[in-house]
Amino acid sequence: MNRRNFLSTTTAAAAGLLILKPRTAFAYQANSAVRHGLLGCGSRGTGVATSFSNNTAAQVVALADLFADNLAAGHAHFDQLNSSLGRAPLDPKLLFRGPHAFEQLAASPDVDLIQISTPPFFHVQHLEAAVASGKHVYCEKPVGIDVRQAKHALEIAKRVKPTQSVDVGFQCRNAPPIAAAAEKIKAGALGKMAVVMGNYIAPASTEKTRPGAGPDEYRLRNWLWDRALSGDILVEQNIHIVDLCNWLLGAHPLKATATGGRSVLTHYGDCWDNYQVDFTYPGDVHFSFTSTQFGSDGVFDAGLRLFGAGGSATVVYSGQIQITGAQAWAWQDEAPAAPGANAGSGKFAANGAFSDNLAFADRDKERTFIDSITSGNCHNQIAAGVETALSCMLGRMAGYRQHEATWENLLAHGETYQLGFGLDQFA
Ligand SMILES: NC(=O)c1ccc[n+]([C@@H]2O[C@H](COP(=O)([O-])OP(=O)(O)OC[C@H]3O[C@@H](n4cnc5c(N)ncnc54)[C@H](O)[C@@H]3O)[C@@H](O)[C@H]2O)c1
Repeated sequence: MNRRNFLSTTTAAAAGLLILKPRTAFAYQANSAVRHGLLGCGSRGTGVATSFSNNTAAQVVALADLFADNLAAGHAHFDQLNSSLGRAPLDPKLLFRGPHAFEQLAASPDVDLIQISTPPFFHVQHLEAAVASGKHVYCEKPVGIDVRQAKHALEIAKRVKPTQSVDVGFQCRNAPPIAAAAEKIKAGALGKMAVVMGNYIAPASTEKTRPGAGPDEYRLRNWLWDRALSGDILVEQNIHIVDLCNWLLGAHPLKATATGGRSVLTHYGDCWDNYQVDFTYPGDVHFSFTSTQFGSDGVFDAGLRLFGAGGSATVVYSGQIQITGAQAWAWQDEAPAAPGANAGSGKFAANGAFSDNLAFADRDKERTFIDSITSGNCHNQIAAGVETALSCMLGRMAGYRQHEATWENLLAHGETYQLGFGLDQFA
């Protein structure tokens, strides 16, 4: 299947906005925009909300952020974007700042959809408020940085109303080449599965400084380096590859052994800069995964190779996606990049700037999500998001303990991380 065939479904999804059914929508009428509130106006949040605006009928009407400078930057950006799309500027009453901004956004009657793009430590707290508000929610991964948060998220999942749609930001599943390969793999193209290899080789993330920032603010702004705020690189970034493995195998790992550490990085922080994990899945399928996040050479390489009795599959962010063996197949993509796609940057980075096979992942994820809202076929992806987050926590636990960890060990251990300071100082 090529991109054009694949996109026919997503284009139809976008067109579906024109026949929006009011009875299934949250507080908006047919032919009107889905009123979009962004919580966390940083790089990923701004990028995804911009892509929603460019590719769907969602319209950014509200912003919320802990810090005034990030809120102001978001304000300027979305006023300019809305103007370029012929839409109204943001109402200053819908700009929320400070530690309670997430609650004010959730309480606003002028918002239908909340996008949670804050650092991972806050996701579950923010998810709880957003779900309780009855609004639709797009929550970035990971759904929880520790077992306590993950279990809490599962409780929140039970409160999602049938008329509410909640998506988790695993956009790689929606990348057309990956989705096409997954369809074949899940249909048995590789025969009996035996071995999976995976990697996530990424550059080091860069420091964010601000004059006058105290130590807590420094931590918050450099959350990617901080275990409690991010969950460490396995839970925060590598999670995309673990998610693809879980999805393609249709299971979560039962146990893991792992090594790794902080071998290269010397700057502030306690996240590891490399992991080597061996996950065991049902059927004695082994997933051997390597991760680094310290490179200064700009090299980015992430993906999976899956080996079965009937052939192998290569599912990568960049490069040829293909299946070899009895059901050989390769993704054919000759179509030029469509306007509005997150394509062509040629840049892979710790901050989530992607190209190549993921060029249309965000766009198609967002269209599918908005279609779930407008069609009334609502999603609730919290449990799936938790399952993948726990899978990464399993590898992390095995690494930190230098000892095999089972799924049962993980759940029983109930690990928790604390921030160690309050946010009221930023009121
Ligand atoms: N799906 C992907 O491919 C992908 C890629 C990159 C990042 N992400 C995720 O997106 C999220 C944001 O990442 P980013 O790179 O944009 O980070 P960022 O630091 O650029 O932005 C985070 C924003 O949240 C704000 N913030 C921090 N704490 C807050 C709080 N308690 N309440 C309100 N606002 C708060 C910050 O001021 C900042 O504006 C993370 O969860 C990350 O894991 C996902």
